[in-house]
Amino acid sequence: MSSITFDGVTVRYPGAESDAVENVSFECDDGELVVLLGPSGCGKSTLLRTVNRLVPLAAGRVRIDGNDVNALDAVELRRSVGYVIQAVGLFAHMTVAQNVAVVPSLRGWSRDETARRVDELLRMIGLDPAAYRDRRPSRLSGGEAQRVGVARAIAARPRALLMDEPFGAVDAIVRTALQRELVRIVAELHTTTLFVTHDMDEAFRLADRIVVMRSGRVEQVARPQELFERPATEYVRDLVHAGDDVYRRYFMRGRALLRGLAE
Ligand SMILES: Nc1ncnc2c1ncn2[C@@H]1O[C@H](COP(=O)(O)OP(=O)(O)O)[C@@H](O)[C@H]1O
Ligand SMILES: [Mg+2]
Repeated sequence: MSSITFDGVTVRYPGAESDAVENVSFECDDGELVVLLGPSGCGKSTLLRTVNRLVPLAAGRVRIDGNDVNALDAVELRRSVGYVIQAVGLFAHMTVAQNVAVVPSLRGWSRDETARRVDELLRMIGLDPAAYRDRRPSRLSGGEAQRVGVARAIAARPRALLMDEPFGAVDAIVRTALQRELVRIVAELHTTTLFVTHDMDEAFRLADRIVVMRSGRVEQVARPQELFERPATEYVRDLVHAGDDVYRRYFMRGRALLRGLAE
């Protein structure tokens, strides 16, 4: 159970002439899936990485459940917040099961408990434990590796999940399957999730709410439908109305199908 709060968050990289993230404030509620959406270079990854303290703040505060992340032990913080990136980063010398078990092992879970959890997760992500448990990452497809990356991130039931363009490198069909699984898993586990993408289609399919970013700042925070109906700025209007009516109907329907809301 967790909320993530950004309060005036500002980041400036050494030597840069402007802030990579400038005075960003919003809250990701407990169990909510919030998407950070915007073009490359607008500061999405930087903002995400303030949560697990991979980048330091120039100003402002990030809180998890009301606790300033800067007051938490950095190692403990990173173990308690799942992090999934595009280059999956599975450990090549370990099996699938060992990869998934990394954080549970660090936490000292028993062998039985860990093995049960690994099998449960592999089933959850649609990989048969008997067939996949002992495989090396080199014998997985891109989509399978990405799934294992998600399983690893949620293995120890993290308080929150950070996902940085995790499905960017897989083909469209696998991507849709992974999006569907993610929506299901996040709903099932009630995991507070921040998800970064530059892909509007993906944002609209997944998000409870979308944070539209531009040049380090937040343009609007709103539910997908609200972004259409009441875009706060010209920039947001252009972004959401980039497609024609058919396209818009298609992806609103895509979202409904994905979330099991379609009639
Ligand atoms: N490690 C870094 N050192 C210096 N500048 C960086 C670093 N990472 C990102 N930047 C700069 O910060 C800005 C935001 O980058 P980033 O957060 O990666 O954007 P996005 O994820 O939206 O593509 C960009 O101008 C980028 O060049
Ligand atoms: Mg990025």
